[in-house]
Amino acid sequence: MKHLIDIKDLSVEEIDNLIEVAKDIIAKPENYSHKCDGKILATLFFEPSTRTRLSHESAMFSLGGQVLGFSEAASSSASKGETVSDTIRMVGCYSDIIAMRHPKEGAPLVASAKSTVPIINAGDGGHNHPTQTLTDLLTIKCEKGRLDNLTIGLCGDLKFGRTVHSLITAMSRYANIKFVLISPDELKLPEYVKRDVLEKNNIEYCETKDIEEHMEELDILYMTRVQKERFFNEEDYIRLKDYYILNKEKLKKAKKDLCVLHPLPRVNEISTNVDDDPRACYFKQANYGKYIRMALILKLLEVK
Ligand code: CP
Repeated sequence: MKHLIDIKDLSVEEIDNLIEVAKDIIAKPENYSHKCDGKILATLFFEPSTRTRLSHESAMFSLGGQVLGFSEAASSSASKGETVSDTIRMVGCYSDIIAMRHPKEGAPLVASAKSTVPIINAGDGGHNHPTQTLTDLLTIKCEKGRLDNLTIGLCGDLKFGRTVHSLITAMSRYANIKFVLISPDELKLPEYVKRDVLEKNNIEYCETKDIEEHMEELDILYMTRVQKERFFNEEDYIRLKDYYILNKEKLKKAKKDLCVLHPLPRVNEISTNVDDDPRACYFKQANYGKYIRMALILKLLEVK
């Protein structure tokens, strides 16, 4: 039985295959509408979500399956002290596959050790968010036509932004990828990601505080929200939350075919006047998230 806990659980070949299946689903959705008849997805969200939970649910419904679950820990027996391991043992009796989000890093890994059904990590604390990364890869492939030979700017909260950690890990496996890491000092990419991913794989990268410094070199600009829920003190969050606000002025030097991405939710990092710029791809990105999750559910349930 296969789980998706970390993007490294998938080989490059498996990722490329998921992308091809997702593209086929987009082109011919009717071919997939009964693939999961009789199957049940459980969505266990111990932390808030809009896109990740609802796109998993929409994905299962579009495959002909059904969905159950909870959207906050307070409405589950976790609020009475039940452990993640016990919760997972129970939910495996009621479902065929589980998508789980949890504030504690490693909780989905613990769950997978006890689970009788496949587990999808739908985000664990400031650690990983592999289905967001699959979404990002499908978006880049569809919008840029390739996953290699790209200069990728990552901007904002690179410390707590789990989508950034998973995306760097995934993109580092493709040829000729360069990263521009744009953040204030307090929110720099963790050393372990630099050491274990970038330096270990000889990936070219630079760090800057200035969002405009490398703008003209970028093929992708991946904006992120400052992760308020991971801060220990409100003062630091308030000081840093509006450090970057992307607007039309800042995009002046950017390539005509730049792709601006954001995992969303957006707070204030991208001015709404960028939304009608053809380079703004973040709402399309959220839409791609449903199709790659359909492909992932098929793979984990071993549906041909
Ligand atoms: N991108 C993302 O994880 O969004 P949600 O928190 O709304 O699921």
